Amino acid sequence: MKKGAVSKVDYDNYDTSKMIKTSKPLKLEDLGLRLPNDPPTQINIWTDLEGLVDDQLNLQVKMQFKHHHQFMLNSGLNKCSSVIDLGTGNGTFLHELAKAHPKISFIGVDNQAHMISKTKCVQTDNVKCLIGDVNNPQAIQGIGNVDGVLMRYILLHMNDTSKALSNLHKVLKKNTRLWIIDLDLEHYVCNPPHEAFELIKRLVKRFCDEHGRDSNVGSKLITILKKAGFRSIEQKIEPLNTETVDIAMLQKFIIQEVIVYRAALENAVTDEEFEKIKTFIDELPNSGTSLNYGVTLVSSIK
Ligand SMILES: C[S@@+](CC[C@H](N)C(=O)[O-])C[C@H]1O[C@@H](n2cnc3c(N)ncnc32)[C@H](O)[C@@H]1O
Repeated sequence: MKKGAVSKVDYDNYDTSKMIKTSKPLKLEDLGLRLPNDPPTQINIWTDLEGLVDDQLNLQVKMQFKHHHQFMLNSGLNKCSSVIDLGTGNGTFLHELAKAHPKISFIGVDNQAHMISKTKCVQTDNVKCLIGDVNNPQAIQGIGNVDGVLMRYILLHMNDTSKALSNLHKVLKKNTRLWIIDLDLEHYVCNPPHEAFELIKRLVKRFCDEHGRDSNVGSKLITILKKAGFRSIEQKIEPLNTETVDIAMLQKFIIQEVIVYRAALENAVTDEEFEKIKTFIDELPNSGTSLNYGVTLVSSIK
């Protein structure tokens, strides 16, 4: 493992539920996080931070499943008989969905073989998971039979959202529903404003810039979807904030985001800045700060 990387966490032995069920204000140390001692050198987040990434994906499902599921229900999930999840990751969200809808067939697709191998840990009869690249028009050719497509937290990992959504539109059959859920930097809000929060925003933006991704793609989605040919487009901003989410979960979520982005970028955050962010997150339960972490939810129909 490269210098500064967070040590690999054996997720099975890492009981996050105990840590995050409480709404008692927690210190970072209480959250059981393993912080890198030095600013990390460039690493592969998916493999070098495997345990942390898994934990973060599972935490996102814990915090957001109810909301995201309801959003999909409000825009036609129950009318679907087969749904594909593009960029399914470790499959946690998909399996929760599949358990809630035993009559729908679900397919999970991810371009990383090791992610697909993880989905096997969460078995559900009505789910199949396959390796496939969403950027490859040939790979998505075969999905024309589904009547629902989910893209949850994958846009910021894709090269060209407009092109990918336009290709997707071409292969889908008429009336197929598409749900997109992703970060939206325009709705990262902190009140009163705080230097540490600006550092967090800057980190996310830099991650996107360095990987050639648009950090504001969330707010451009309506235009992109219209151009690709989708209709009945609806957008909501998720209240992922200090007022509605268990504060300990939100603290853990934000600091893990920072650790992952920081690890992926060389010299993006100095030790001093990282300390400022940690203090800001530690003090969140008692500081009276109101914070919203921008997530956009968009539904549309071919
Ligand atoms: C942040 S994770 C989100 C996982 C899951 N959708 C969720 O909501 O928990 C992004 C996933 O997209 C996958 N991914 C990135 N680019 C992809 C591509 N071009 N085709 C398929 N999957 C991709 C990554 O391997 C990763 O597992």
